[in-house]
Amino acid sequence: MSYPKPLNDKSFLINSANFDVLHKTVNADPDQFWLDKAKRLDWLKFPTKAGNWQFEKPVSIKWFEDGVLNVCGNCVDRHAEKTPDKTAIIWANDKGTITKNISYAMLLKEVNSMALTLKNLGVGKGDRVIIYMPMVPEIAYAMLACARIGAIHSVVFGGFSAESLAGRIRDCHAKLVVTANEGVRGGKVIPIKATVDSALQHTPEIEKVLVINTSDTKVVMTPGRDSFYVHEYSKEVPPEPMHAEDPLFILYTSGSTGVPKGVLHTSGGYLTYASITHQWIFDVQQDDIYWCTADAGWITGHSYVVYGPLANGATTVMFEGVPTFPNPDQFWKIIDHLKVSIFYTAPTAIRSLMQAGDEWLETSSRQSLRILGSVGEPINQEAWEWYFHKVGHGNCRIVDTWWQTETGGILMTPLAGVHNLKPGSATQAFFGIHPTLLDEQGNEIDSNPAEGNLALKTSWPGQMRTVFGDHSRFEQNYFSKFPGYYFTGDGAKRDDEGDYWITGRVDDVLNVSGHRLGTAEIETAATLDPSIIEVAVVGFPHPIKGEGIMIFAIPANHTTQNSNELKETIKRTIRSQIGAIASPDAIYIVKGLPKTRSGKIMRRILRCIAKREFEKIGDVSTLADPGVVDHIIKVFCEED
Ligand code: PRX
Repeated sequence: MSYPKPLNDKSFLINSANFDVLHKTVNADPDQFWLDKAKRLDWLKFPTKAGNWQFEKPVSIKWFEDGVLNVCGNCVDRHAEKTPDKTAIIWANDKGTITKNISYAMLLKEVNSMALTLKNLGVGKGDRVIIYMPMVPEIAYAMLACARIGAIHSVVFGGFSAESLAGRIRDCHAKLVVTANEGVRGGKVIPIKATVDSALQHTPEIEKVLVINTSDTKVVMTPGRDSFYVHEYSKEVPPEPMHAEDPLFILYTSGSTGVPKGVLHTSGGYLTYASITHQWIFDVQQDDIYWCTADAGWITGHSYVVYGPLANGATTVMFEGVPTFPNPDQFWKIIDHLKVSIFYTAPTAIRSLMQAGDEWLETSSRQSLRILGSVGEPINQEAWEWYFHKVGHGNCRIVDTWWQTETGGILMTPLAGVHNLKPGSATQAFFGIHPTLLDEQGNEIDSNPAEGNLALKTSWPGQMRTVFGDHSRFEQNYFSKFPGYYFTGDGAKRDDEGDYWITGRVDDVLNVSGHRLGTAEIETAATLDPSIIEVAVVGFPHPIKGEGIMIFAIPANHTTQNSNELKETIKRTIRSQIGAIASPDAIYIVKGLPKTRSGKIMRRILRCIAKREFEKIGDVSTLADPGVVDHIIKVFCEED
């Protein structure tokens, strides 16, 4: 099934008239193309050079390296000057009952105030600042204020636990935390500051904590360390001149080891890429009201709530809440209320709203919509069709955007005015992006249809530059399995027409509700409890979350807890170590795990069990204890 490109496509920024020309231009001279695109930003010194990169070791990636600019100046000041009254941010509260419009002029004032406060607290160029906050406008002010003074921010999603927060603080040696007294989400109050306090018990490197009061609730303050945020309009803080390759932010994401890695993005290339992809892929025009529902704690929030839209002088919506509170028509009501024309969300949200029933679509018309976006995981056909026909009344183009924390911006998507839409396919690469499918030996598969490991042959300006503090991990993770390529960790198919279909991760990374979690990370957390000696974590298909977390756990001999108590213990331990987002969906208490004689857990077997594909388990005779497989299947079937 395919939905043809629009016949009259000239209203789209990228359409059949200019697409071929752009395509030819970028392929003929990519560096010239990107230098030309860098002109969309204001530079203090315009770069003379575009890409300077190599994917062979030592891996090095630089873009626009002799350029000088300031990211905040580009997202705020230049628009405050030209279009001061234009709304930069529309913020909607958790209940959707209060909205605030923040113009570019107001944004400048607020960001300047936050920048001055940070400076007064001793933050300077290159210092790391952790931002741990709910989705209030101040989270964007804090990010932009860091960019303004040249500090490197690392936003930690408010749903992560104190332990996770502490791990990130330690890894990047942060100097200061910006936080809030509390947050609200889905009607629940989240004691953000209390979590910071417990994280800071083990992180002496933090000198200061800046607390933003989002409500009247009082919190405990540590004298000498904590201070409340008070507006500081006394003087201007000019944007710091930054080299294009100066770091802008670190964002932690899960990999195949137990410890999340700090993905580092820099200034000039990242912003150029976030800006152009935002404008061209979402077809953002003068009067559009654009809403991306991601939390600022994820890369989607960085690139497509804050940096991309603001670099383009667009109007971006920030929403404090969740799709289903107070009712599952919350998104749709906000769309009508704010006249949102471009809406970008995740398949997991679409599926949960679809499951709530079509009656929740009746309280809104959604007539303002023209573009719908999807991100974070493969979207199943049923959810796509519902999004297209029911949410968008068949009138909206859907952009299914494939990308990663590491890629900084979207690498594959249909373009609304150019490509045929295929439910579930991210279709084609963006300009200047060269994907390929590799077989297990690292050979490119040229014919179609094909299936293989998804890799990129060339660099692009938004690509991550390194793992903070560990360049060899960067090389090892992304450039070792297939030398000379950036390996994404995803598998994909390419159909007869050359369109890509992402099939999911091929490494030990799970994608739960569009959030990345490493199986090793969850295993490490679960075994911290002394009543558990070993666990194995696998993903399984979940109707709403896309992928669910399944745990097989071996209790310690001495434990006296029954299996229900053990399960509760495991859940509690994981929640406190990582956060509620890693809470397991199914736990089986077993006597052993399928291991080879050398002690390696055969997760493949557990994955077959988790999917009830018992017939695919195959030969188990090489296991140290082949009988364990029948035992696990028995436990699995009895509890199901
Ligand atoms: O497996 C892919 C999946 O999400 C992974 C990246 O996760 P993260 O770094 O958290 O970034 C999510 C937001 C960009 C990818 O490796 N993924 C992302 N978008 C899609 C997707 N899978 C299929 N289709 C997509 N549109």
